[in-house]
Amino acid sequence: MRILLIGSGGREYSIAQKLFHESSDNDLYFLPGSDGLQQFGHCVDLNPLEVDLVADWAASQNIDLVIIGPEGPLVAGLANKCSNCGLKVFGHDQSTSFLEGSKSFAKNFMKKYEIPTAVSYEICDWASGESLIAHWSHGLPIVLKADGLASGKGVVIAVSKEVALQTLRSFLDGKFGDASRKIVFEEYLNGIELSQHLLVDVTSDHRSYCLFPACQDHKKLKTGDKGPNTGGMGAFAPIPFLTNEDVEIMKDLVIDPTLKGLQSEGLIGRGILFLGIMWTSSGPKLLEYNCRFGDPETQTLMAMMNEPLLPLLLEVAEQRLCKNVIKIHPGTYLTYVLASSGYPDMPHAPVELPNIKSGNPSIIHAGTILRNHRWFTNGGRVLNIVVSGENLEQAQERGKEIITQVAWTGMQYRSDIGEKSLKHHQLNKTLYDPWFS
Ligand code: AMP
Ligand code: GLY
Repeated sequence: MRILLIGSGGREYSIAQKLFHESSDNDLYFLPGSDGLQQFGHCVDLNPLEVDLVADWAASQNIDLVIIGPEGPLVAGLANKCSNCGLKVFGHDQSTSFLEGSKSFAKNFMKKYEIPTAVSYEICDWASGESLIAHWSHGLPIVLKADGLASGKGVVIAVSKEVALQTLRSFLDGKFGDASRKIVFEEYLNGIELSQHLLVDVTSDHRSYCLFPACQDHKKLKTGDKGPNTGGMGAFAPIPFLTNEDVEIMKDLVIDPTLKGLQSEGLIGRGILFLGIMWTSSGPKLLEYNCRFGDPETQTLMAMMNEPLLPLLLEVAEQRLCKNVIKIHPGTYLTYVLASSGYPDMPHAPVELPNIKSGNPSIIHAGTILRNHRWFTNGGRVLNIVVSGENLEQAQERGKEIITQVAWTGMQYRSDIGEKSLKHHQLNKTLYDPWFS
């Protein structure tokens, strides 16, 4: 089968690695791809946002399945173009992808379908924003979100009204171009955050979904949840204190109304939904929809899967999904993100990675380049190390060994992936309890 995977990061590497190993019949193409991905197939030198060119290329090459990784091409309508060219596609149409591409659209959808979420307001001008901040009655901090896509940097948790005003000014002045000319203000929610992924298949006459295990990202740069927010410094699963009952509550309150809402709005669901959920003392609240796989959560999920991925992606693309839960291996799974010095603000220029040997499935290339047979860093998040064990300690031992082997000068990583949750569990705490301090 000829498969085109759109994207180039660690998320796409882990999907490609899984597809490559599950069948020698899979002929993989990556667009734009990366040097790391070359070992699994062929890279296509096109811009994924040039949706007409990409769809035409895929049709001309008789691609059997297009899998769209990042949000940009989804929101730009790549899935629509591919479908119009008669291609099978795993990825939502543009109108569905606005659930991620517009915070305002997503919040209105959540309100209409009574999905629990933070109280919010939206504004488009300075006077309304200033007045909202002056009369803010939800306590501090105040959460400000750029409406559109902002490469994961469009959310600011303002610790004071002064910071909220500065953020308002910079957003309205076009910090993220048109993406920040509309701003969603939200009450700050306290709780335990989790990432819930599900395959979704929704058309006008049926709806079904298939759950991945919930996992947890680690947003802060440094061990102990210190330092600035990042795109994610590590993920782990399963969450030891998430019960079956919690999952049922999430289905009833968030997942079922979301799928019914998609159907009522005439929106096609044909891909993955990644729900960012804050579990508060009064239950789950939906922070956001993502219409793509999370990064680095996907690296963990691909390693955990105990069944082939391709048949599931095809069931979704052909709109005949009938499974409702993914089979997983037992054990604890961890993904460590190894980042460049200077990440997240200004990742430093390429630095050599002296100890990378190919062929180790635990080493995921996220931002690397090959020059004269030598690997270098290329951007902020460079490598991901995915390991498992019977328990957290065993997985950590394995992680430590590989990280020591591949370490380079200036590398940053968190050594405590999964530890906070294990401690919470050992203290017999539940999702409804605050994190211990
Ligand atoms: P997002 O880009 O929507 O994923 O937001 C980035 C991060 O900001 C989330 O993963 C949360 O950790 C945090 N966040 C977003 N909205 C809220 C909120 N209303 N209350 C508390 N934290 C939030
Ligand atoms: N790990 C969070 C994200 O992919 O948005």
